[in-house]
Amino acid sequence: MIRIAEQSDYIDMDSVFRASAKALCVRDYDLKTILAWVGEARPERFIRSVNDGCTLYVKVLEDKIACFGELNIERQLLLSLFVSPDYAGQGIGKEMIEFLFTKARDAGIKVLKVDSSLNAANFYLRNGFVEQSKSDFTTQNGVVLKSIKMECVLTT
Ligand SMILES: CC(C)(COP(=O)(O)OP(=O)(O)OC[C@H]1O[C@@H](n2cnc3c(N)ncnc32)[C@H](O)[C@@H]1OP(=O)(O)O)[C@@H](O)C(=O)NCCC(=O)NCCS
Repeated sequence: MIRIAEQSDYIDMDSVFRASAKALCVRDYDLKTILAWVGEARPERFIRSVNDGCTLYVKVLEDKIACFGELNIERQLLLSLFVSPDYAGQGIGKEMIEFLFTKARDAGIKVLKVDSSLNAANFYLRNGFVEQSKSDFTTQNGVVLKSIKMECVLTT
């Protein structure tokens, strides 16, 4: 089941975020950069996301958060999608992205954008996104990550 995240989820979401980045982004970023980005627990990052206009969704499996996704309808932007390393490679990211596509379509979005981390580029390409340009993405805590701007045309 995928549902809207509640404030009481933020600590567990922060753990998923940090574990996912450490386990799954290491093949494309050096450890020093990853630790500068996610080295410290900071569940309040999600309060800021919501204040910035994002909606957060979680997928819960076995009473644990397996994945979360973040959508900003106004900016037509998929802001983040993180799968717990315990559940990686099981199609959970695809399930979440399809859920976010439906939410975006329902809100009238025709083209959804993402700033993809380098490690996730294949995943987004497999799920309908097309590369637009190389980019630098600045995280909430000011770390600059090489990224790829991508777009997906949402067909009805
Ligand atoms: C990108 C991501 C959301 C994909 O979710 P997923 O549910 O694991 O997706 P898939 O099942 O399609 O597998 C994705 C990749 O993991 C690999 N994989 C398979 N089993 C795996 C395992 N047990 N552990 C780690 N990776 C595994 C797959 O080979 C695949 O690689 P590819 O995309 O380079 O082809 C997830 O890898 C993730 O959270 N990454 C870290 C956070 C991130 O970069 N998010 C995007 C921010 S914009």
